[in-house]
Amino acid sequence: MSRIAYVDGAYVAHAAAAVHIEDRGNQFADAVYEVWSVKDGALMDSDGHFTRLSRSLRELRIREPMDRRVLACVLFEMVRRNRLRDGLIYLQISRGRARRDHAFPSPEVKPTVIVTAKRGDPAAAEAKAQAGIRVITLPDLRWARRDIKTVSLLPNALAKQAAKEAGAQEAWLVGADGFITEGTASNAWILTADGALVTRMASEAILNGVTRLALLQVAREEGLRIEERPFTVAEAMAASEAFVTSASSALTAVVSIDGQKIGAGAPGPLAKRLRHAYLAGAASNVAAQKPRPSAPLVARRARARIG
Ligand SMILES: Cc1ncc(COP(=O)(O)O)c(C=O)c1O
Repeated sequence: MSRIAYVDGAYVAHAAAAVHIEDRGNQFADAVYEVWSVKDGALMDSDGHFTRLSRSLRELRIREPMDRRVLACVLFEMVRRNRLRDGLIYLQISRGRARRDHAFPSPEVKPTVIVTAKRGDPAAAEAKAQAGIRVITLPDLRWARRDIKTVSLLPNALAKQAAKEAGAQEAWLVGADGFITEGTASNAWILTADGALVTRMASEAILNGVTRLALLQVAREEGLRIEERPFTVAEAMAASEAFVTSASSALTAVVSIDGQKIGAGAPGPLAKRLRHAYLAGAASNVAAQKPRPSAPLVARRARARIG
């Protein structure tokens, strides 16, 4: 079956999908994005991602291209057309297409909306979770508004590549003050030797992960001692457990940092328990998602409201 993409109101063959060369997302990284994990054909932590999307758009003064419910219909339609059971839905909204000029174009310029679907491999994801991941630390070279989910990801891409070349699966980025901000595509967590679950508080220094927020809720329900504060590389190295969270990987244990084992050098009991609790909670939310409107109705509504 061929992959389908969504570009500005039309569902098109993925291989033929395109945006204009003078799209501002292309020339200025003037665009935001969101990634939803799809489990059993439904979007995980759906509301959290929509809420963060609206915030990112607001912060950059890009207008909402369509009502949230219509956008949700487009995403569901993408799940349906791509027959996606497990995988990812990627949404990107740029300020639109305009003659190249740094300042914003006129307000009539319409945002460009693209959506793609990617099939996942649940067995491979589970094997990765069982094994845990290796992390290296690198200087954080990004701009000062990491709370906005923009497509300006070059420092993240360079750090991820450096991790790969070092035989690791993620890089934890470290600020000039010596504190870890987050991963290239995930939030960072540690369990200290005295039993505190530590993750950096939301601020402009990190992306406030939707999975991070969901997991904080799970940890609160478990009665864990939570400290939302920055932590150093030395503190992470001395932790009894460490892990990352993201929509694409849920929760994955970190088994080493810069080659030094964390705990026993294997996923720890807390990481395993929290991953299980998070996935079980997400599965029940997914089951509670309302039945979807019929596909032709969805497509008609989406086409009607765009613009
Ligand atoms: C830099 C960064 N931090 C954190 C996250 C985790 O966010 P979420 O849990 O919403 O996927 C991501 C996800 O892409 C990210 O790119």
